[in-house]
Amino acid sequence: VKLNASQKKVLLLVGLPVCLLCTCLGGSVYCDDLKLDSVPPLPKDTTHFYARYNRITKISKSDFANMSTCLKKIDLTANEITSIEDRTFMGLPELEELIIRENHISQLPTLPETMTLIDASHNNIGSKGIHKEAFKDMTGLQFLYLTDNNIDYVPVPLPDSLRSLHLQGNNIQMMHEDTFCNLNDFNYIRNALEDIRLDGNPINLSKTPQAYVCLPRIPVGNLI
Ligand SMILES: *[C@@H]1O[C@H](CO)[C@@H](O)[C@H](O)[C@H]1NC(C)=O
Ligand SMILES: *[C@@H]1O[C@H](CO)[C@@H](O)[C@H](O)[C@H]1NC(C)=O
Repeated sequence: VKLNASQKKVLLLVGLPVCLLCTCLGGSVYCDDLKLDSVPPLPKDTTHFYARYNRITKISKSDFANMSTCLKKIDLTANEITSIEDRTFMGLPELEELIIRENHISQLPTLPETMTLIDASHNNIGSKGIHKEAFKDMTGLQFLYLTDNNIDYVPVPLPDSLRSLHLQGNNIQMMHEDTFCNLNDFNYIRNALEDIRLDGNPINLSKTPQAYVCLPRIPVGNLI
């Protein structure tokens, strides 16, 4: 018997194991496109959790409490999430990748220092939606994607490990000369940061030529 998504959901609600609803392969749990409206209870050994294209509206601390402390990746792309309880992911000591693109989130939650990739593009994150110095201690962060939000500043300080910073389609109007570089140390080179996107912001990058001297490449954006 092949069950459709809503039939499977009923099975989950009556307490059957998540792997009857979702596809479990090794440590990966795939729950894509199942019309889920909340995070199902995951097996303890889950390392990668995918729940793309569902109808999840809210993430609470209890969703990821008491479980899999070996979760490395969570992908909640294209749900209807409006809020994530702030310290939800702080009990996951191995978390490296969080993908919450295409939701309605206005506040980026506090994330562990172990992060390597954060993708919160296509949300409603504004100036107050990112904690002060949120990324400073993430010494392995390589990819930070915040495309199409309502952010009006570059969220400094950025760790030296960062390779890609996507901020296109925001409301950034100002760039400081020390946003990326260190004005007190002209020997400082930020080798890793090769990919900065600032197009689609009301900013004229030509006004701050000193801001890019330590970068391997000039950011993409308005230079006119
Ligand atoms: C589960 O988490 C709750 C709080 O979120 C805690 O009170 C409880 O002791 C935990 N249980 C286990 C088995 O870890
Ligand atoms: C952008 O800044 C440069 C350098 O200050 C200036 O010459 C240019 O006119 C500015 N362009 C616009 C559209 O304001």
